[in-house]
Amino acid sequence: MNIDILLGLQWGDEGKGKIVDALSPAYDVIARFQGGPNAGHSLEFNNSKHVLHLIPSGIFHPGKLNIIGNGVVFDPAVFRSEIEKLGLGVGELAKRLVISSRAHLILPTHRVLDAAYENRKGCLKIGSTLKGIGPAYTDKASRNGLRVGDVLKPGFRELYNEHMAAHLEILKGYDYKFDISEFEAEWFSGIEMTKRFRIENTEYLVNSLSDQGRKILAEGAQGTMLDLDFGSYPFVTSSNTISAGACTGLGISPKRTGEVFGIFKAYCTRVGSGPFPTELNDDTGDLLRKTGCEFGATTGRPRRCGWLDLTALKYAIMINGATKLLMTKADVLSGFEKVKICTSYMIDGKETSEMAFDGNTEIKPCYTELKGWKEDISAIRDYNSLPGTLREYISFIEKEVGVPVTMVSVGPDRIATITREPL
Ligand code: GDP
Ligand code: IMO
Ligand code: MG
Repeated sequence: MNIDILLGLQWGDEGKGKIVDALSPAYDVIARFQGGPNAGHSLEFNNSKHVLHLIPSGIFHPGKLNIIGNGVVFDPAVFRSEIEKLGLGVGELAKRLVISSRAHLILPTHRVLDAAYENRKGCLKIGSTLKGIGPAYTDKASRNGLRVGDVLKPGFRELYNEHMAAHLEILKGYDYKFDISEFEAEWFSGIEMTKRFRIENTEYLVNSLSDQGRKILAEGAQGTMLDLDFGSYPFVTSSNTISAGACTGLGISPKRTGEVFGIFKAYCTRVGSGPFPTELNDDTGDLLRKTGCEFGATTGRPRRCGWLDLTALKYAIMINGATKLLMTKADVLSGFEKVKICTSYMIDGKETSEMAFDGNTEIKPCYTELKGWKEDISAIRDYNSLPGTLREYISFIEKEVGVPVTMVSVGPDRIATITREPL
């Protein structure tokens, strides 16, 4: 039971990167289990800011092992540029990072396919990050994929050409212009960079480290409401972002898992299309976006903003079996006279606390209004020093969802974190 899981309970961007970085000193290993470069995990410390896409968020802690698990889809070009930006030296990083041979590769033509599919969707676009995620997972499921372990084969270039030719055949059916020559060159230099790292069947590594009693933190990407099965399909990503995804994405038994840390923002955001019942298309939404700097870490797109949605949060807690909740961005809600929390939905004139099956269902949120707090809380490090009305906001959430909020984040820096109980 020494593998804890940390994942997003909303539509992604809950602050996973910041919290994983803050929790890393308590772990020996940090392992990403799904998603790929669609993720953008931001970390801040010592007045510097970093955004990670493929690399686990424990990378800045010397002595910690980071693993890119089999459930991840891996783009070597993104990997190379990320490694170079870190500025820690390839030699040092190669000691801290291992890549699963079973992780599937995102090919340059997967990106083109992603864009061509979106282009054809017209007004029903998913709002994909266009990183090739969907097409790469599609090839995995249809047993046409290439994997990281394949790059070590002498005939890899031929394998690549065969896969690319199949993609080009599909693209003939799409009226979509592209030129991948420049990107292909970057991709192949990414392959050379990847080969400088340990590539192995990381399921053995993870299980043997767990047998040795090492503490492992499985880091999720995206969020539960973007899960392929339980999110607002079809406006979802192409992987299982939920706690079960950690087992398939790392090769571990559920019996080895311990805490499930569920992260949520004190309000809600979403990038891309799809239902968002508490969305605020008004000045309050604009204010949340501005104060919370709500712009995508991967694409720079403005994030849609709205009040906290407890109906969606309860659903996410149920699906994941979340044992502890971590609330981020409480500081962004400072200054409101009143804050609202959605406690149920009205669908077809009936009140319900169930998530709708159909992503196009019209949903009206029912709100409870609570008193806001005016103080700047970003320098507070002790729970009892937080404004009483914020503590009431948190108590209200805990009572509604039945799971304790054990950590409150009050700023982007790793130290702007209030822990209510030891890990
Ligand atoms: P992730 O994808 O879940 O890792 O989240 P992102 O990094 O995409 O987005 C979260 C954003 O909020 C980043 O810019 C973080 O630096 C920032 N952030 C995280 N926690 C807090 C917090 O408690 N307060 C504020 N103001 N910003 C935070
Ligand atoms: P992190 O890990 C927020 C969204 C996209 C789009 C949908 C499908 O930073 O929380 P995809 O590129 O996966 O095919 O896009 O999912 N999306 C995210 N939204 N945070 C993310 O990751 C996301 N990754 C994908 O905007 O709506
Ligand atoms: Mg993000």
